[in-house]
Amino acid sequence: MAEKSFKYVIVGGGVAAGYAAREFAKQGINPGELAIISKEAVAPYERPALSKAYLFPEGTARLPGFHVCVGSGGERLLPEWYKEKGIELILSTQIVKADLGSKSLISEAGEVFKYNILIIATGSTVIRLTDFGVEGADAKNILYLREIDDADKLVDAIKAKKNGKAVIVGGGYIGLELSAALRINNLEVTMVYPEPWCMPRLFTAGIAAFYEGYYANKGIEIIKGTVAVGFTSDSNGEVKEVKLKDGRVLEADIVIVGVGGRPLTSLFKGQIAEEKGGIKTDGFFGTSVPDVYAVGDVATFPMKLYNDIRRVEHVDHARKSAEQAVKAIKANEEGKTIDEYDYLPYFYSRAFNLSWQFYGDNVGDTVLFGDNSPTSPKPKFGTYWVQDGKVVGAFLEGGSPEENQAIAKVARTKPPIENLDTLTKEGLSFATKI
Ligand code: FDA
Ligand code: NAD
Repeated sequence: MAEKSFKYVIVGGGVAAGYAAREFAKQGINPGELAIISKEAVAPYERPALSKAYLFPEGTARLPGFHVCVGSGGERLLPEWYKEKGIELILSTQIVKADLGSKSLISEAGEVFKYNILIIATGSTVIRLTDFGVEGADAKNILYLREIDDADKLVDAIKAKKNGKAVIVGGGYIGLELSAALRINNLEVTMVYPEPWCMPRLFTAGIAAFYEGYYANKGIEIIKGTVAVGFTSDSNGEVKEVKLKDGRVLEADIVIVGVGGRPLTSLFKGQIAEEKGGIKTDGFFGTSVPDVYAVGDVATFPMKLYNDIRRVEHVDHARKSAEQAVKAIKANEEGKTIDEYDYLPYFYSRAFNLSWQFYGDNVGDTVLFGDNSPTSPKPKFGTYWVQDGKVVGAFLEGGSPEENQAIAKVARTKPPIENLDTLTKEGLSFATKI
C-alpha cells in the first residue's frame, strides 16, 4: 500500500483548507511539509459563489475565477500557487478511515497518509429527503447543492428544462438563494417550506415579510406550512410532480432541496470529543486529541462574546477559524502564545438586487426599523435584537459598507439602551453614530 508522510495534513479541501494554506504560507513552511486531501477535483474555492453567480445566465462565475481567497478581498490561490509553495494538493481523494491513534488516514483507493499535525476541515454535507425515506425522492432532477459537481448538474438541468417549472423545497439559505437564481433563469418557481415564514433560524416575522413580498413580486409562489411527502416521475425516471402533505400536487421539471446541512464528523466518531453535533475545540481550535485541530463547519468552539460554545456554518468563520488554528500551531512550535478566538458572528446573503448582513446574536426582543416595503425602489431596513437592556444583534438590508460596519460595531460593543422606543425612532442612526 502506498504511504505518504507530511508534517501537516488538512483533510477537506474547501474554504477553511484554502485559508489555512494561505496562513501556513504566510507563517512559513518548507516544501513538502503540508498536504491538503480533498474529495473534490478542484483546488479550494469560495463555496458561496455556487448558489449565486455560478448559476447566473449572465456574468456567470466559473473557476478559476473564484478560488480562495478572493471572497475576502485577498489574492486568488490558483493550483499553481500550491505548487510554487510546495504544498501538495491531493485531489479527487476521499478519506474513508481515520485512525487518530496511529496518526494515519486511509483513502478510498487504499493510500495511507501519515501526519504529525492534522487539521479536520471536512465541512458539511446536505441532508437528503431519501434520508427520511420520502417516496420517489431518488428521481432524476431532484437536486442538492453543496459542491461544484452539484452546481454543474444544476446548470445542466436549468439548460435542459428551459422555461420549465422548478419547485424549491426548504425556506433557508439554499431555498432563498436558489429560488432567486432559478427565477433569474426564467423558470417558474414555487417554494415550499414547513415554517410560518422563511429563514426562521434568523429572520423575525417582520424581516421575512419583506423577502416573501419581494419574491412574490418577482413571480415566485410561496407555499408555507407544509412539506414534500412524495414525488412522481415520468418514464425516463425524471421528476414530474411533488406531492405535498396538505394534499396539493405541484408539477415540476426540477426540484431543488435545501433542508439543512450536517457536519461531516463521522470519520472521527468515538475517537474525539464532540459537542452540539460538531467536534469540540478550544479557542485555538485544538480538539480533545493532541495534534488534531478542527475548523470551519465541523468545529464546536468557545464563543467568548456570549460565554457559550457553538458551531457556525458560515464562510466568515470558516476563514477565520482556519487562520486562528494555523497561527496557534505555529505559535506552539515556537513556544509562543496567541489570543483566544473571539468571534463576532457574521452571516450574509445576496439574491436578486438584495443584500443583507447580520452580526451578533439573534436573541431577546426585536425592533424593526426603516423602509421594508417590498415594492420600495430602494428598500433599506433592519432589526436590532435587545437582551438585558443591551443591543446584541443587528440585521441590515441594503446597507452601504460603512453602515454594515456600523451595525457590526453595535453587535460587538453591545451598547446599553434605555427603551426600545428610542431604538425604533433612531433606527439606523443609532448604529452610525456609535
Ligand atoms: P467546506 O464545505 O467548504 O469544505 C469541506 C471540504 O472537505 C470539501 O471540499 C469536501 O469535499 C471535503 N471533504 C469532506 N469529507 C471528506 C473526506 N472524507 N475526504 C476528503 N475530503 C473530504 N456562507 C456564508 O457566510 N455566506 C454565503 O453566501 C454562503 N453561501 C453558501 C452557498 C452554498 C451553495 C453552500 C453549500 C454554502 C454556503 N455558505 C455560505 C456556507 C459556507 O460555504 C460554509 O460554511 C463553508 O464552506 C465551510 O467551510 P469548510 O471548509 O468548513 O467546509
Ligand atoms: P438551512 O438550515 O438554512 O435551511 C433549512 C430549511 O429547510 C429550514 O429553514 C426549513 O424551511 C426547511 N425544511 C426542513 N425540513 C424540511 C422539509 N422536510 N421539507 C421542506 N423544508 C424543510 O439549510 P440550507 O438552506 O439547506 O443550507 C445548507 C447549508 O448551506 C447551511 O450550512 C447553510 O449555512 C449553508 N448556506 C449558507 C448560505 C449563506 O450563508 N448565505 C447560503 C447557502 C448555503
